[in-house]
Amino acid sequence: TAPFFVDSFQRKHDYLRISLTERCNLRCFYCMPSEGVELSPEGKLLTDEEIIRLASLFVDNGVTKIRLTGGEPSIRRGILELVRNLQALKQRGLESIAMTSNGVALYRRLPQLVEYGLTHLNLSLDTLDPFKFELMTRRRGHEAVLKSLDVALRSPLVSVKLNAVIIKGLNDSEILDFVNLTKDKRISVRFIEFMPFTGNKWDKGKMIPSSELLRRITVHYPDVTRVPDKPNDTAKSWKVPGFQGNFGFISSMSDHFCGTCNRLRLTADGQIKVCLFDPNEVSLRDAMREGSSDKELINKISLAISGKKAKHAGMNDIDVTKNRPMILIGVRKHQG
Ligand code: GTP
Ligand code: 5AD
Ligand code: SF4
Repeated sequence: TAPFFVDSFQRKHDYLRISLTERCNLRCFYCMPSEGVELSPEGKLLTDEEIIRLASLFVDNGVTKIRLTGGEPSIRRGILELVRNLQALKQRGLESIAMTSNGVALYRRLPQLVEYGLTHLNLSLDTLDPFKFELMTRRRGHEAVLKSLDVALRSPLVSVKLNAVIIKGLNDSEILDFVNLTKDKRISVRFIEFMPFTGNKWDKGKMIPSSELLRRITVHYPDVTRVPDKPNDTAKSWKVPGFQGNFGFISSMSDHFCGTCNRLRLTADGQIKVCLFDPNEVSLRDAMREGSSDKELINKISLAISGKKAKHAGMNDIDVTKNRPMILIGVRKHQG
């Protein structure tokens, strides 16, 4: 049986998020500082071989789910081959290969990605209004995202989710439109609380707690029912009776889910991050390039995990000053 990466709170880490690139074809303000971010020089980014080596090592140590993020993961050169190579790990215990994408450049490559082993897709789409899309992302592409959604829904993907970060006064007027999307589409829409990161001008006043969004939805749909939680799910989900899809809330701020956290992150430049908000990172890239053996890499990872805090990297009020902007942690979205 595979050993597991367990932390001091007995949380088993079986979900690895790998950021494939720091670049993005959108410029969402909540993800990327307005002044942009400094991209790592090419030579500091993990190569395909290094990613596969690390992914294998994680899978051999209990990781069953890998999510590809970015920047925008679909624009990495060689993405198809990379997914194809990850697929081989399904023989060693990997169960799902997921991607979080903004969908702008995805539709063309999506069928092939699915053929090569992609099983789950989360599309980031914060608004159903093309003008607002440009306002929030500082780029065009709304139509392309909808096209990707269409292609995704016609593909054999196991699940298709839609991520909407809700910002007060900007897109919160659209929550019912999003819920209505679930009427005849097999999607899970997730309303995400705005989280603080370096340079994203977060303030509490721009965040709407999930409880308030649910209240507004139940005014129109009083008979919504709760969908049972999946283990380690970030979202609490609901359903309008008779609708094909469902909707949920990711309440990282008002009702965190750190107690069931099973996530580890690998940044595009090869750092392991045990928590989204933890500025302390360990470089697996440097270790690999200095010739570390698999055993030594595992020890490095285990040591990092043993320092993982109970919630929000041990902070009561999240201090973002030492942390990276979201774009460089692993999401999608960036300047370059
Ligand atoms: P599933 O695997 O489908 O459950 O996706 P996910 O929610 O783990 O990942 P996704 O990339 O779709 O991220 C959606 C949102 O979940 C993000 O905007 C974050 O708000 C939140 N999220 C993802 N990972 C973490 C995490 O490690 N910690 C916290 N606090 N929030 C996270
Ligand atoms: N707060 C909440 N969610 C965010 N994302 C990016 N930045 C933030 C933020 N500040 C989301 C993206 C993507 C997911 C992985 O993270 O929209 O859907
Ligand atoms: Fe896990 Fe940190 Fe996110 Fe909490 S804030 S769920 S501990 S990564």
